[in-house]
Amino acid sequence: MEQATEGAARIRISEGVFYNPKMRKLRSISVLFLRALGMRDARLLDATAATGARGIRYALEAGIRDGVLLDINPAACRNAKANVRLNGLRLRVLGKSLQEFAGASKEAFDVVDLDPFGTPVPLVHDALKVCKRHAVLMVTATDTATLCGAEAAACLRNYGSVPIHNELCHEAGVRILLYFVAREAAQFGFGIEPLLSIADMHYMRLFLRLEQGAEKAHESVRRSGFGAYCSNCHNFAYEAGIERRVDAKCGYCGKRMQFFGPLWLGGLHDKRLLGRMLRLRDGGDGDVRELLERVHGELDTPFFYSVPKATSYLGVGSVSQARVLAALSSGHRATRTHFDDDGIKTDAGTGAVIEAVRRASEE
Ligand SMILES: C[S@@+](CC[C@H](N)C(=O)[O-])C[C@H]1O[C@@H](n2cnc3c(N)ncnc32)[C@H](O)[C@@H]1O
Ligand SMILES: [Zn+2]
Repeated sequence: MEQATEGAARIRISEGVFYNPKMRKLRSISVLFLRALGMRDARLLDATAATGARGIRYALEAGIRDGVLLDINPAACRNAKANVRLNGLRLRVLGKSLQEFAGASKEAFDVVDLDPFGTPVPLVHDALKVCKRHAVLMVTATDTATLCGAEAAACLRNYGSVPIHNELCHEAGVRILLYFVAREAAQFGFGIEPLLSIADMHYMRLFLRLEQGAEKAHESVRRSGFGAYCSNCHNFAYEAGIERRVDAKCGYCGKRMQFFGPLWLGGLHDKRLLGRMLRLRDGGDGDVRELLERVHGELDTPFFYSVPKATSYLGVGSVSQARVLAALSSGHRATRTHFDDDGIKTDAGTGAVIEAVRRASEE
């Protein structure tokens, strides 16, 4: 049997049970997130446990001792049970689907983790059924081709949104996923507060808190709306409200813009929480720190400009991102973004960004 040591956990991996060592980074981020929130006394539901690696790490490293691990696959359930014992824990492990568990359960949880194969769409509703008020919900999606617009019809079918397939696709995908969860949560009278929202490697991951109340639910759906993108000058626009639409004409070059959405247009991160996560970071895992620092530093506004797209629009040679950031920094806020290595998030408009790129190209 294969074995792995991950964080404080020892994990044995049975034949036919899913374990991806590359997801260590995301599991480590999730541990830090729960530690920074101070969730020691929380009740955990790891709804898609596989080997149990996640739930076991949350117990050992974030101090969550009370919880249930679920997996629909009997081999995974046996494997997770053995791993719970191996790590000296008392978490309950059940061989049930989330749907079956949530349909019959009288239990409610403070922390719910969804980490399925592919899309989380079929699981979100049942996860919400067993969330306490103010619960923390973590959701992974690995159907990034769908959310990023390579499979636009599937995105419309599964998420009810039109995706966009360009440099904005990862951020737009995260926001489409947030919109989906906000709508599902609204049916239970919950609003959502995103605490950390990441697109990395082959996955997207939401960390959010539920807020109870019809007004909160309404407000979070109202924080969604449409985006528009100009494929000529790469200008973008957005406007909250499902019933309204942004102008179809590009405000910069006058060409027709392409719509995408509906998607979440509110904030993506709680920077104070991210600051606490970074302060907790204790050695090792340089990749975790690198990603969290990038997210912590990024301006939390929708969408960004791509420096190479701007130079190609202007027909000038390549320009360093640092120069454009420096050119924008007098008078505007401008940062890098974890969504795209070449991207700049800024409160400057398209005209100011294009001008900054032009000036940087002439230096
Ligand atoms: C990607 S793996 C989870 C990996 C694990 N969270 C980790 O970090 O190592 C997805 C798991 O979800 C289980 N699963 C799929 N559908 C499920 C459902 N409806 N209810 C419960 N478990 C489910 C699968 O059997 C599989 O073991
Ligand atoms: Zn334009």
